[in-house]
Amino acid sequence: MKSIVIAIDGHSSTGKSTVAKKLAKELEYKYVDTGAMYRAVTLFAIRNNWIRNAEVDENQLIENLSSVEINFEYNPEAGTNDVILNGENVEKEIRAMEVSEHVSSVAKIDEVRKKLVEIQKQLGDEKGIVMDGRDIGSVVFPDAELKIFMTASADIRAQRRFNELKEKGEDITFEEVLKNVKHRDDIDSNRKNSPLILSDDAIKIDNSELSQEEQFEIILNLAKKRIASA
Ligand code: DC
Repeated sequence: MKSIVIAIDGHSSTGKSTVAKKLAKELEYKYVDTGAMYRAVTLFAIRNNWIRNAEVDENQLIENLSSVEINFEYNPEAGTNDVILNGENVEKEIRAMEVSEHVSSVAKIDEVRKKLVEIQKQLGDEKGIVMDGRDIGSVVFPDAELKIFMTASADIRAQRRFNELKEKGEDITFEEVLKNVKHRDDIDSNRKNSPLILSDDAIKIDNSELSQEEQFEIILNLAKKRIASA
């Protein structure tokens, strides 16, 4: 069976990571969550006090980018990879609301994107990979054999995210989450560098009305077809 590259892009909180993870497991492919990499750089900036009043000190961050090392480590309990920032497992910390609030501002910095895209390209060198993000089909792997673009209404995405955060015990309102979802959509889609776009050759899936299982079946079938014809 031939190995292919599967790029899954789309709006935030559309369940990209969930479906990408499951797909990678089913196909015995590698899985890379690129959002987690941008989140790790954001955590690095927060910890160094370079984000104040929602302003990122871009100069400081860019100057110190060479001291950011990002790796992945297999977590047997979760069956996926955790993100390691300079030797520390930060998988839990990068999912906090504080990181979500600032990650789009960090992800629009050209130097940050350049560094992370380079790592992502290397990870996909041998194919057999499912990678999810915003620019995977457009910038990281423009030649990916299968490109999926996932979306859903902002209200539905905010509700899903709100439920997740509540479950984790975060003290937050639905309105705050909705505001964050819309704010991220706006920055991700309108930034100058590698904005979130629907490429001509990507397959768009609106999952507002789909269950996770239905969506997974659709994507798995598409992947199997592409693998068979590769
Ligand atoms: O998928 P996520 O919500 O964890 O992504 C976090 C942020 O990182 C999101 O606001 C957009 C940005 N991102 C990006 O710009 N490019 C990627 N390939 C992945 C994520």
